Amino acid sequence: MKKLTAILLVVLVTAVFGQNPPDAAKDKPQGEAPKPAWRSLKPPTNLKLLNKDINERELFQVMKGFSLSLGVRCVYCHKGEDGKPFDTFDFASDEKPTKNQARKMFVMVQDINKNQLAKLDLDPAKEHKVSCWTCHRGKQVPDFELPPPPPRPEGEKPPPPAEKK
Ligand code: HEC
Ligand code: HEC
Repeated sequence: MKKLTAILLVVLVTAVFGQNPPDAAKDKPQGEAPKPAWRSLKPPTNLKLLNKDINERELFQVMKGFSLSLGVRCVYCHKGEDGKPFDTFDFASDEKPTKNQARKMFVMVQDINKNQLAKLDLDPAKEHKVSCWTCHRGKQVPDFELPPPPPRPEGEKPPPPAEKK
């Protein structure tokens, strides 16, 4: 309640003195205090893999990571309507199969990071890690086919034909 009063006060003062911060005035309806999205998330009730002590802010960071890695919005894995406030979503629901697929992918990534990379004789001085982004690169389905070869720089000769045996 105190916070709300403080926000209202700021809004009032800026309204009276006509000093709306330029950004807020541009893309926020007048009088609405900016509120980070994660603040409207409820405490999680259905975490099977993530640490149950994770706070809403950290959880949101992880979820942002999933979304950006796959190039999707929350609704790809969660029950809710895109563009609606988060408190209308049922994030705990496992109804969407993609959510469980994501859990399996998460287990795979953890296994790679904890067990598989250790078998590879990599430089111990460096950090070696795989994430959703490593494969997905902003796509729901990672690329498998190689890209076409880059165009040959002008003037460069084509490689000689393979030698006959
Ligand atoms: C690629 C799938 C995927 C995307 C996209 C995704 N999530 Fe999740 N989300 C999950 C998975 C999987 C879990 C469950 C993790 C577990 O079991 O530990 C989860 C759990 C949650 C929970 C906890 C629910 C509860 O009560 O247990 C919240 C809140 C949440 N996600 C919010 C979001 C938000 C907000 C976005 C969009 C910014 C988002 N998620 C995008 C897969 C996804
Ligand atoms: C080692 C590479 C790799 C990594 C790392 C990876 N994925 Fe995937 N992911 C794939 C492949 C391959 C597919 C299957 C695409 C296909 O053929 O349909 C896939 C598919 C998916 C799907 C869709 C499944 C379906 O049923 O269509 C989801 C959701 C997903 N990944 C989430 C994640 C999340 C979340 C992470 C990080 C925790 C992650 N992936 C990390 C390779 C990877």
